[in-house]
Amino acid sequence: MKAIVVQSDKPNNPLAWQTVPDPDLGAGEVLVDVFATALNRADLMQRAGNYPPPPGASDILGLEMAGRIAALGRGVSGWQVGDRVCALLPGGGYAEKVAVPADLLIPIPENWTFEQAAAVPEVFLTAFVNLFMEAALQPSETVLIHGGASGVGTAAIQLAHRAGCTVVATAGTDEKVAFCRKLGADLAINYRRDDFSVVVPAHFDGAGVDVILDMVGADYFERNLNLLNTCGRIVFISTLSGGEVSLRLWTLLRRRLRLIGSVLRARTVAEKIDITRAFMSRFWADMETGIIQPVVDSTFSIQQVEDAHRRMAENKNIGKIVLRVVHS
Ligand SMILES: NC(=O)c1ccc[n+]([C@@H]2O[C@H](COP(=O)([O-])OP(=O)(O)OC[C@H]3O[C@@H](n4cnc5c(N)ncnc54)[C@H](OP(=O)(O)O)[C@@H]3O)[C@@H](O)[C@H]2O)c1
Repeated sequence: MKAIVVQSDKPNNPLAWQTVPDPDLGAGEVLVDVFATALNRADLMQRAGNYPPPPGASDILGLEMAGRIAALGRGVSGWQVGDRVCALLPGGGYAEKVAVPADLLIPIPENWTFEQAAAVPEVFLTAFVNLFMEAALQPSETVLIHGGASGVGTAAIQLAHRAGCTVVATAGTDEKVAFCRKLGADLAINYRRDDFSVVVPAHFDGAGVDVILDMVGADYFERNLNLLNTCGRIVFISTLSGGEVSLRLWTLLRRRLRLIGSVLRARTVAEKIDITRAFMSRFWADMETGIIQPVVDSTFSIQQVEDAHRRMAENKNIGKIVLRVVHS
């Protein structure tokens, strides 16, 4: 098959569409012909050599895919060759084929394209696990979602809004801020112009927020802590501005705050299956009816992957950048 290979022996680690061995099909897995995959920030980090795949995972980039089942491994039932599916992957999505545990598969609704389906698994499952399983976000609560126009942010705003929460989002341009509002944010703040730690209490009569989904890290740490209501929780999913902070523990003790760190990729298959099932049972009907929608920023052919990566590196995307895979 063909796949994108990171040429790590060359300057800037260029990406090349090359012939590589087909994946092995294990028991309980299905082989999928991939027709679309999508970018995640982690792909840029892995390409740069800063985010190696977990043990046993493919070293091909790509944390999600959508395609058609091409073969069933031993012991797989309930699926047919030809079924349209998407799934979370620990790697291997930037390729013509991938092997996936059957229990991780999500059926693609009839009226969806492969491009829409590829935009779902990583960001919706990340948003879901961190808001509802890690932070135990409740409908009566207020949540602050940083990076509101990112892939994860666009999923998180929609899920929290649908759950009945009050949603605050931050983003770096007025266009992104307007999009966050369209997705359901009650308050969206352009962090380049306004300080969220001032705007939020001014908007909510002095109150703060109950949960923060944070990917920014160091730059926001102190302001995030100060903004939390009693018993507030922050889930850290990345450290885009840096990961070194200092903390007075009494701040946590006095206000009974919780700081939670979380990654999705390194979790076991069993955990990922639990997360996928919990997400589907709570929100899949809303996705099928279009109340919650995948947000596709742009679509590139897989051979244009360099342009796609550049768009993400320049922070230009609103939602997901998708790669269309045409088989040779
Ligand atoms: N822990 C996990 O399991 C997990 C899973 C998936 C993703 N993630 C993380 O979640 C984040 C979003 O992922 P994604 O793939 O959805 O990303 P994405 O679409 O590339 O969006 C990231 C956005 O973050 C904003 N940003 C970048 N640097 C910033 C900074 N220093 N301060 C404030 N905002 C900054 C930019 O938007 P603005 O123009 O608004 O600044 C950028 O577009 C990434 O950091 C990713 O690594 C973690």
